Amino acid sequence: MFSLTPLHSLFLAVFLAFFAACTTKKPIKPSKASKCPISVNYHFTRQCNKECGFCFHTASTSHVENIEDAKRGLALLKAAGMKKINFAGGEPFLDKSRLGQMIDYCKEVLHLESISIVTNGSLVTRKFLAKHGHNIDILAVSCDSFNESTNIAIGRGSGDQVSKLYEIRDLCLEYGIKFKINTVVCRLNFQEDMNLFIEDLQPFRWKCFQVLIVDGENESDIRLRDARKFLINDEEFESFCNAHRRQKSFVPESNALMAKSYIILDEYMRFLDRDGREPSPSILKVGVDKALECVYWDEDSFRARGGEYEWSRDQGSCSETHKGLDW
Ligand SMILES: *[C@@H]1O[C@H](CO)[C@@H](O)[C@H](O)[C@H]1NC(C)=O
Ligand SMILES: *[C@@H]1O[C@H](CO)[C@@H](O)[C@H](O)[C@H]1NC(C)=O
Ligand SMILES: *[C@@H]1O[C@H](CO)[C@@H](O)[C@H](O)[C@H]1NC(C)=O
Ligand code: SF4
Repeated sequence: MFSLTPLHSLFLAVFLAFFAACTTKKPIKPSKASKCPISVNYHFTRQCNKECGFCFHTASTSHVENIEDAKRGLALLKAAGMKKINFAGGEPFLDKSRLGQMIDYCKEVLHLESISIVTNGSLVTRKFLAKHGHNIDILAVSCDSFNESTNIAIGRGSGDQVSKLYEIRDLCLEYGIKFKINTVVCRLNFQEDMNLFIEDLQPFRWKCFQVLIVDGENESDIRLRDARKFLINDEEFESFCNAHRRQKSFVPESNALMAKSYIILDEYMRFLDRDGREPSPSILKVGVDKALECVYWDEDSFRARGGEYEWSRDQGSCSETHKGLDW
């Protein structure tokens, strides 16, 4: 007698949904985890006047969702299981009013466990943190080098990035925000010794990414910059890691791990596919589940990245529920 096992049902469901929503795409590899977007990177704007040589998020459009739709999308994600959101860009602080409204909405209305922002730091102000800091869990500031001429050679940095980093570290302490540093390791900085600065700055996490080129984002763009000259091989990344592993905040992220394990929502609230296919339809049009079924999400990489740490402001209380996968 013919019977449907749960596994078969899952495949059938995924297959049907796939047909309904993504008929123009290559077959997907279904993943159970894709049903729950626990942690989302929302690149709500591509606006950015920098031209970092390795940037995969080029400013090919200037679209931003209107604030009411953005809030509706955020509420849909929360209903689908989102616990953590990271606001990214472009440069999120280019639109402080929008950023502030979304942060307050996510914390005060949606009660998300963790809200973080990735910024280059230059536009972070005391005024903004005084107003919204109580709703921000983590501020991650990008800094690729502690040598300003290297920052300028990489393409971001106007000569005052390091002093700004110290200023933001102090503001984070003052407003009870976790201070994080993101460093992209590339050809121009992989031999730099950053230990003294990291010891001094004491970030709670120092995330170091191996420079990455992503298909689709990189090609077919008139503003394409040739990222290849910045690439380093795995051995070179490993040598940087070995030189800095003694920093307790150090979290390395290699190319292999990074490529397919992020859930990225773009400025149209579409999920980006890290395999280089088309983005999903917007969650505002088809909902979260359908949109997620259209993109490939490597669950194994997701797990492999899983260093757990406290991701919300309220340390100590209900530490179990506040623990989650590290994004
Ligand atoms: C900074 O980098 C430049 C260019 O690579 C180099 O000439 C200079 O010696 C570096 N400065 C320090 C303090 O390491
Ligand atoms: C950060 O981004 C802003 C907006 O794009 C830009 O004006 C500023 O120069 C950038 N700063 C650094 C250090 O990259
Ligand atoms: C990135 O862009 C270059 C130049 O257009 C292209 O040759 C390459 O295939 C793209 N993707 C990767 C992964 O390098
Ligand atoms: S890496 Fe960031 S700062 Fe540099 S061009 Fe890309 S979005 Fe702009």
